[in-house]
Amino acid sequence: MFSARIPANLAPNRLTEALRALRARREPLVDLTESNPTRAGFEYPPELLAPLADARGLRYAPSPLGATEARRAVAADYERQGVKVAPERIALTASTSDGYSLLFKLLADAGDEVLVPRPGYPLFDHLTRLDLVVTRDYDLDVDGRWSIDFAQLERAITPRTRAVLVVSPNNPTGSFIAAGELDRLAAICAPRDIAIIADEVFADYELEPGAASRAGRVTTRRDVLSFALGGLSKSAGLPQVKLGWIAVGGPDRLAADALERLELVCDTYLAVSTPVQLAAAELLEHGASVRGQIAARIVSNYRALQAAVAGTPSCRVLPSEGGWYGVLQVPSLEPEEDLVLRLLADGVLTHPGYFFDFPRESFLIVSLLPPEAPFADGVSRVLRHFDRTASGA
Ligand SMILES: Cc1ncc(COP(=O)(O)O)c(C=O)c1O
Repeated sequence: MFSARIPANLAPNRLTEALRALRARREPLVDLTESNPTRAGFEYPPELLAPLADARGLRYAPSPLGATEARRAVAADYERQGVKVAPERIALTASTSDGYSLLFKLLADAGDEVLVPRPGYPLFDHLTRLDLVVTRDYDLDVDGRWSIDFAQLERAITPRTRAVLVVSPNNPTGSFIAAGELDRLAAICAPRDIAIIADEVFADYELEPGAASRAGRVTTRRDVLSFALGGLSKSAGLPQVKLGWIAVGGPDRLAADALERLELVCDTYLAVSTPVQLAAAELLEHGASVRGQIAARIVSNYRALQAAVAGTPSCRVLPSEGGWYGVLQVPSLEPEEDLVLRLLADGVLTHPGYFFDFPRESFLIVSLLPPEAPFADGVSRVLRHFDRTASGA
């Protein structure tokens, strides 16, 4: 009775099962996968959500791409990042995931392809499959810094390729797309009528000073149809408020055609609530205090991770320029899944690299969001495991 868009096997994986059992036994756990900012001990101003009660929200007057004042507020937020975007080129969405779905409907027919970075964001599997889009991987290589393997990316292009997805900074590698890389990508995509979709949800969070300002931004391009995705989920630590956006870059004519069609798709769903649109300007402004706390936390945890790993010669932290994650390369003494289960039994939860499609083993992905003390405790539990393993205990 059900569509093949949904995986046939919905059984939980071994890690999920083990985690459920551990939680049922109420055993203590340091969760180094926590990426929900509302559960990571940040101080949210108590009045932060007060603008959602604006009485103007009692009236429904939908505008498919979003209320003008909210689109202006998003444009002003881009300006804070040093990026100029006209409010008319912005469409509001309920989340970044919603933005992806709208763009797949705009660009792709069933069976069309999009290129996705590897390693990359695990949700792409579901996001694409639910919209009947097929993914093909392009590789990110690490050698001092992460960079796109352009030869392989070009080989992955077929006549059905509709878009290249870029995540900048990427989850989990933390790499921003360099300005030169974006130039090269634009030169590949524009003549082939392939769009660029750049997920910039972590753009405010740098781990290497200056990395964000050196990154390429698609909204400023006039040579290739491109879409930047952003949202309050990460930029103000408010995933529950459900406000995201798409900013359209590219030649005027093409961008106008895209926006006209996007308007029709948005009009069909009208997924963004009126109260959140009315509150957008204030949420963006006052969300800065949460963003500041998150930015300080991830830098502090990333440094602590580097310092701790420096004392364990068998492990290393891969270079990361931004975002909320750290990648640890560890000895391949057992399959990643067994390793993660063993760490769980030791009271620490991490994600295995294969969740993110690392082409080989062994990598552990940790969130940099947890409060400093439990983060340090979790990291030392992980590293102790390798000291013990290395000494054969
Ligand atoms: C790369 C990336 N994009 C988007 C999101 C989710 O954003 P939203 O909550 O706006 O759908 C995440 C969440 O972890 C992410 O890692």
